[in-house]
Order: sequence, then C-alpha cells, then structure tokens
Amino acid sequence: MKFFIDTANLDQIKEAQALGVLDGVTTNPSLMAKEGVNGKENILNHYCNICEVVEGDVSAEVIGTTFDEMIKEGEELAALHSQIVVKIPMIKNGIKAIKYFTDKGIKTNCTLVFSCGQALLAAKAGASYVSPFIGRLDDVSTDGLLLINEIRSVYDNYGFQTQILAASVRHTMHVVNCAKIGADVMTGPLSAIEGLLKHPLTDSGLKKFLEDAQLMQV
Ligand code: G3P
Repeated sequence: MKFFIDTANLDQIKEAQALGVLDGVTTNPSLMAKEGVNGKENILNHYCNICEVVEGDVSAEVIGTTFDEMIKEGEELAALHSQIVVKIPMIKNGIKAIKYFTDKGIKTNCTLVFSCGQALLAAKAGASYVSPFIGRLDDVSTDGLLLINEIRSVYDNYGFQTQILAASVRHTMHVVNCAKIGADVMTGPLSAIEGLLKHPLTDSGLKKFLEDAQLMQV
C-alpha cells in the first residue's frame, strides 16, 4: 500500500519524506488555505515546491465546477509538473472532466467520494485514483472501511485499474485496516503514519537491551 500525506504543510511533507516511506501527497483547498497560501501565483508555486520535496504523485484540486473551468484549471495544474495529478470533485461535470483528462493521458484523482456507485462511475471515466473519505463517513455513523471493502470488490470484479486512495484517514487503525482490505493507497496526517511506530513492548524491550548492553564488554 502506498503512503500519501494529506497536507500542504512543507515541513510535515519533508518530515514524512525523510522517514523514507512517503509515496506522494494529497492536498485540497482547505489544506492549502490552512497554510495561508493565497493568490494564483503563490498557489501554483506551492504545488511546485511540494513536487520538489517528494518523488511521487501530488494531487492538486480544481476549484471551478463547470466543465470548462475544470478543464482550464486542470490543464494549467498538469502543465506545472509531471508529478501533478488533477483532483476533481465527484459531480456530473467532474466525471466529464475526468474522461477528458483520461483521454489526454493526464492523471486524475476523483475526490469527495462517499458511495460505491460514485466509485464505479469514477472508474468508468478512467480516474487514476478514487478518494473515498472514510473518516468523514465514520463521523456520521457510517462505516468508512466498509466502503473501501465494497469498492475493492467491485474493482476486482472487473479489473478496473483505478487505484483506491483511502482518504480522510484520521488514525493508525484506519491505516492498518485499509492495508488489510487492500486499498492501493492511503492518505492521512503525519500522526497516522508515525503512530505505526508505537508499541510499549518495543519501548520497554529496547530499554532493557540498552541496560544489558552496559553489562557487555565491547
Ligand atoms: O484530502 C481529502 C481528505 O483526506 C480530507 O480529510 O480529515 O478533512 O476529512 P478530512
């Protein structure tokens, strides 16, 4: 399973990259705004800066909702850097735009996916990635992981090449369970990745090994 980090914060992206396990980055308008990135030039520069830090795919989201707006913005984003994936919302014009970009060989990430039917449509349009938001489903008493399971079955039934990018991952158990189900990618905060490191038996075991090492003659 690929690990993407879901942030526009360059320091966190650098930290995840330094760990050596980062495969890409996802952003969205809320994450960009959180970093105080304002104005078209700064926004485009920020995406380029992210691409310089990581080696993998970097999702950059369109803001327009008409077909023409999405095409114009998406083409501009895709031209920025070879790692850019155009992130497009799961709406009717979005599906048309995904098909347009697929036909042009431009990678897309279909975002704001909350049902298996939406994921099927995204795959039919040829999306490179589909982003089911599992944390936001959990927030409304709906099993986000069950959706990942359903999409996995449907995609496997027909051999769809669209990668399941489990998004809105909030914690380490989301990561582990997505891996068990067979999500292709997960995107989450740095804390969800670093949480995988933690076990009290590792800490106490290491403490004892270091104490005993003092007894050895080296
Ligand atoms: O990037 C989209 C998604 O991961 C958002 O996550 O935590 O805002 O629900 P969250």
